Amino acid sequence: MTKYIAKKPDKNGIIDFTQEENETWKILIERQMRVIKNRACDEFIDGLNKLNFPHDRVPQCTEVSKVLQAATGWSVVPVDAIIPLKEFFRLLANRQFPAASFIRVRAELDYLQEPDIFHEYFGHCPLLMNQAYADFVQWYGETVLQTSKEVQTLLGRLFWFTIEFGLLQTNNGLRIYGGGILSSFEETVYALESKLPERAAFDVKTVLNTSYRYDEIQKGYFVINDLSDLFKLKTNMIIDLAKSIASGTQGEDFVIC
Ligand SMILES: [Fe+2]
Repeated sequence: MTKYIAKKPDKNGIIDFTQEENETWKILIERQMRVIKNRACDEFIDGLNKLNFPHDRVPQCTEVSKVLQAATGWSVVPVDAIIPLKEFFRLLANRQFPAASFIRVRAELDYLQEPDIFHEYFGHCPLLMNQAYADFVQWYGETVLQTSKEVQTLLGRLFWFTIEFGLLQTNNGLRIYGGGILSSFEETVYALESKLPERAAFDVKTVLNTSYRYDEIQKGYFVINDLSDLFKLKTNMIIDLAKSIASGTQGEDFVIC
């Protein structure tokens, strides 16, 4: 359930955001631009620079899609605050990133459970400009669409610990590529600098066996060495592995995030 109602675009694809909503975007983007410096991976910063989001208003999906289309063939589509899982995977398979077209209220500036337009645009779109990430997300949607609910639970963990909460080892030290982290002011610092969470080398089997909570800050992260490592996950092996683990597993439901 959500208290948010997504806004509908007009016939030209334009959404009318209020002055308060545009100001919320400005607060969010300006503080996030500061905090991701030397914490986000270079590929994210590169995509962010190319997208060149406005600061004084919520960007329109039409303008974001135009840049994404030219780079990797992706687009963003406005959707309701909550959409069925099948629809979520179908959109990803079509290189359409579902973006709930509402922005958080001020009281939830730091944390909200539902993914809003700031999370979707700021957290995910910069890396949808990157070919390895863009291809992985499409493969993921296509693949998960064809699996059972139990297998989806496990593959949900793969999405969670990469696209949402992934860390990347670089020559300049540990960096963030997960959109769930990079759209959160608090977690961007916590993920790299807190002594509390574990930061383990990425291992597919361990990831599939690791459950997560969507309603609290992460207890652990997995670290890949290169974004192209996501390519290596695009194999039937991972689906077979998920199927073999899934039998008899009671896991958390897939959470769209
Ligand atoms: Fe997300």
